[in-house]
Amino acid sequence: MWLLCGCTSKCLLTSSSRRVVRYSHNFLGKSFNKAACLPEAAGFEGVSDHSGLQQFSVSQTDRFWGAVARQRLTWISPFHTVQDCDLSQGRIKWFEGGKLNVSVNCLDRHIHTFPERVALIWERDEPGSEVKITYRQLLEATCRLGNLLRRRGVKRGDCVTLYMPPCPLAVASMLACARIGAAHNVVFAGFSAEALADRIRDAQSSTVITVNQGVRGGKVTELKKTVDMAVQSCPSVQQVFVAMRTENPVVMTARDVAMEEEMLREAVVCEPAAMDSEDVLFLLYTSGSTGKPKGLVHTQAGYLLYASLTHRYVFDYHDGDVFGCVADIGWITGHSYSVYGPLANGGTTVLFESTPVYPDPGRYWEMVQRLKINQFYGAPTAIRLLLKYGDQWVNKYDRSTLKTLGSVGEPINTEAWDWYHRVVGDGRCPVVDTWWQTETGGICIAPRPSNPDAEIVPGMAMRPFFGIRPVLMDSEGKTLTSNNTSGALCIAQPWPGMARTIHNDHQRFTETYCQPYPGYFFTGDGAYRSKEGYYQIIGRLDDVINVSGHRIGTAELEDVVNQCPAVAESAVIGYSHDIKGQGVYAFVVLKKGVDVQEAELARQLQDMVSKSIAKYASPDFIQFVRRLPKTRSGKIMRRVLRKVVERDLDGLGDLSTLDDPAAVQEVIQGHQDLCGKEQPQ
Ligand code: PRX
Repeated sequence: MWLLCGCTSKCLLTSSSRRVVRYSHNFLGKSFNKAACLPEAAGFEGVSDHSGLQQFSVSQTDRFWGAVARQRLTWISPFHTVQDCDLSQGRIKWFEGGKLNVSVNCLDRHIHTFPERVALIWERDEPGSEVKITYRQLLEATCRLGNLLRRRGVKRGDCVTLYMPPCPLAVASMLACARIGAAHNVVFAGFSAEALADRIRDAQSSTVITVNQGVRGGKVTELKKTVDMAVQSCPSVQQVFVAMRTENPVVMTARDVAMEEEMLREAVVCEPAAMDSEDVLFLLYTSGSTGKPKGLVHTQAGYLLYASLTHRYVFDYHDGDVFGCVADIGWITGHSYSVYGPLANGGTTVLFESTPVYPDPGRYWEMVQRLKINQFYGAPTAIRLLLKYGDQWVNKYDRSTLKTLGSVGEPINTEAWDWYHRVVGDGRCPVVDTWWQTETGGICIAPRPSNPDAEIVPGMAMRPFFGIRPVLMDSEGKTLTSNNTSGALCIAQPWPGMARTIHNDHQRFTETYCQPYPGYFFTGDGAYRSKEGYYQIIGRLDDVINVSGHRIGTAELEDVVNQCPAVAESAVIGYSHDIKGQGVYAFVVLKKGVDVQEAELARQLQDMVSKSIAKYASPDFIQFVRRLPKTRSGKIMRRVLRKVVERDLDGLGDLSTLDDPAAVQEVIQGHQDLCGKEQPQ
């Protein structure tokens, strides 16, 4: 239960009995060789091992990032200042004066050396129907689409919304925006029409790109229809590009553009825009603790550099490897590790369209065998699900190509870590539990890179990446300096990959991330630092829950539930779920005099959440209560609700500020009536 609430005391217990795994082979070469490890480190004096390099990166930040940026990015004109940042003011600028084009960095520069190398392997829903796209083909598609967007009026500085499943045209769309200097806003194609409309309106997009239908787990979804519904309430939208994922025709209106047909009329050469380092590359919406999702803004050079460096070093990616990140492109993981990181490194990357259990629970590992995947990057929720189906689904397939296994999105419990390591990786692949966020742009804490033979502790993200200085804060805002302690996780200095602002709301950005601990970036997570100095993420400290690795704010859910005319108020919490990590549990107070069938209303409310947000956000449990436990000042005591659902009545804590203690008894009784003696699962 410690994952839920940021309660740190239990975390110490789980950490103490940890087993460590040491690998006999070396991750970064036999003995430490600065230049072999990181070529630009050759000139860094006094660095004799990997921790020295990490030290250098945080103490000589400008020298470190300056050298790495010059070496790894192709610039149209060089930057004059490595950074100009002041976290206390929310000012974050990297590589000013520099001009570059992200699509050139991801495509054109590789064309000179290996035009026929596979850039994308589109792993379509039906196993065995994968499509391979070379760098030359991807550049061609990107240029045609860039020309089409330009011809149809999309200008530098505009923002194009994408509502697409993982597919080559989605990647080409992202890169085409980058090519002409427009920002992209990818909205996960599982979001509802309303959620999509909110994001289109906030981003003020005049162009939306979608596909006729999506195909996932053998089922067809009507993506174009969802866009049609969404744009009805988006006056800014002037055109919708529609690509054909299936052969089924869809109704096209005057506003719609048959994308592939039009692309064929365009030239295969498209002049790349010379972008400033700090121009916007993309917006990506994510949940916070208020009802309104925030459009985090990432910019060009710093983001790309950080995605590519982390991709190279956390996963030990080498030229020629096949990188398999199974995240959807609608999330930051898909942006950084299916698209930008691997392509900036000239890699071969898999776009996974399906689900872990389609057509059966062997899907991932059959794909690993067929595509000869070297690095596999997935989510704990899927690992926990597959573990339950048994080892035979893994053992059937040859996984000898695998070198590194990654985990992301939520804490990975020891059982899942162990299975991933022992069964999937045959005990020979390092498992890297990577901690990061939409806000951080790329991985910030992970077991690798590190000194050769360094231990990996199951279920711990462990070590900061280059340039990252994590700190823990106590409840008074003081830095905790000792080990074997827990606190609020902050990052003490800026790094190039971090988000720059929230679209149209810089004040919210500074208030959320910069002001809680002035001068530090506040992550919203709690963490434990072990006696060895390793970090373990405990979970959110705010009202954000994490369902199957997807962030959702309880306020967003309550906003939807409260829209129901029968509902007076509600309180939503996350509870610990075996597979999903967390599930959604809603307490609902009905308006006086309302007479309804509770089971029917519960179904209606679940439906409302699915329609307003997405299916994954729908509450598993809805408990109707007469009142909610509140303080005398009227604040809902969520801590108490969590403890009730956790069945930890001894842990209810201080109830002296409660307005009416009887409310708690009612909640306890109602919970038992709804879920029986067992905890909800
Ligand atoms: O609570 C942390 C959790 O996911 C949050 C970030 O969510 P999002 O922006 O959607 O990005 C997810 C993919 C990077 C974090 O604040 N989280 C992410 N990775 C881990 C994690 N919690 C524990 N361990 C992780 N490895």
